[in-house]
Amino acid sequence: MTTSSATEVSDASELRHQLVEQLRASNHIRSAAVESAFRTVPRHAFAPEVPLPSAYADDIVATRHRDDGTTTSSISAPWLQADMLEAARIQPGHRVLEIGSGGYNAALIAELVGPTGHVTTLDIDPVVTERAVRFLPETGYSQVSVVTADAEHLPSKVVPEGGFDAIVVTVDTWDLPWIDALADGGRLVAPLRLHGYHWAIGFTKEKGALHSDEPLVICGFVAMQGDGAWNPNRRTVPGTGVHLSWEDGTPLSVDQLAPALTREPTVTRTNITVGGQEPFDLLTLYLAGALPGFCRLEADPDGDHQVLNPPPPHWPAAAIVRGTSLARLAHERIGDGDDGKGRYEFVVQGYGDHGHLAAREMAEHVESWQHNHRGARCPLITARPAAGHAPAGPVHEPHVFAKKRTRISVDWPIVPVRTARPTVLERSEAG
Ligand SMILES: C[S@@+](CC[C@H](N)C(=O)[O-])C[C@H]1O[C@@H](n2cnc3c(N)ncnc32)[C@H](O)[C@@H]1O
Repeated sequence: MTTSSATEVSDASELRHQLVEQLRASNHIRSAAVESAFRTVPRHAFAPEVPLPSAYADDIVATRHRDDGTTTSSISAPWLQADMLEAARIQPGHRVLEIGSGGYNAALIAELVGPTGHVTTLDIDPVVTERAVRFLPETGYSQVSVVTADAEHLPSKVVPEGGFDAIVVTVDTWDLPWIDALADGGRLVAPLRLHGYHWAIGFTKEKGALHSDEPLVICGFVAMQGDGAWNPNRRTVPGTGVHLSWEDGTPLSVDQLAPALTREPTVTRTNITVGGQEPFDLLTLYLAGALPGFCRLEADPDGDHQVLNPPPPHWPAAAIVRGTSLARLAHERIGDGDDGKGRYEFVVQGYGDHGHLAAREMAEHVESWQHNHRGARCPLITARPAAGHAPAGPVHEPHVFAKKRTRISVDWPIVPVRTARPTVLERSEAG
């Protein structure tokens, strides 16, 4: 870096090594190659707008915003970059595509592929690619190809013969339209949205399909723009401030639901409990695949829905609609728990004339997850190109998510609860 003073560089290098120690201790860095990349690439040089300690904090650095303040580009949090690079299993000589650019992560990948490999980093936003074009040569990574394009329409000229050995997607994506651009045996790591829940998932391509084999990591990334931007299919129950979203599946009518929200709900108990600090994200993913009409429920805190306690704003409740009735997953505190963080029982609240039946239906699936799948570390996820498959249509196919370009199926191994292990590694806005 020509503009930095000697002290700044030595401070930066000290902070960088401290960050690496932290990422090793927390097991996000697991291989010597990823460790060496993190020790080498000067993260602060890609984030000149923030002070050195912020550049080396284990957090995102937001680099671009819309007028309303929404972040549209960032340098992702180091823990997540490390997890995703480990999952990508990049080797020297590999040809790698990074979707969503900025420069820093591309430089890490350039370290991993070495002089015999090649990195292409692609972004829809010319301001972001301009940054990458400036910062990469300044830090010694001029060999990285920077492309401005919508990832939904990958320019064929950027795809090497035989496909990329790895594709690392660093933007929240609803679909996986890059299967053809990946070599057989190649790795694709992406934060995939399934019914609004997003998970960073590592896949290997075999016989034209992607197969997951890594535990899922819950994460938040900036939103996909362009033709691959997802539609939340959000509907508002008239006059209530209650919103239901069908990000996958067919949206149902909400126009007749308002009366259901004026009467106290029925409560169906499950006798299934969860600790206050224990994630249950896999339960909601299970319910999203198992239940026709699944949606996610949010409520304005000041809306006209006296009988419904709003779920936390960033974690909409799992819900189903049945005609003019509705059920939603909730939990009730039943004690302090071993760790003092509370113990909660899953309950299902039913709203409307048939709300108790909808609640019973959802509760049965909570029980099925508990008895058959709660011990599973992660389900197996397969993505196949949609071409050649009949569209899902109005018929519900359990645990299949029909996307525009792929069909994603989620297979739940039978693992009884007593062998339960932690299922989710992180939850954070991290990219
Ligand atoms: C989290 S940032 C990328 C971070 C970067 N990989 C890093 O840490 O160095 C996500 C990027 O995805 C880009 N993006 C959003 N939609 C896109 C699309 N359709 N095609 C390509 N890039 C897109 C945004 O402009 C943004 O710069």
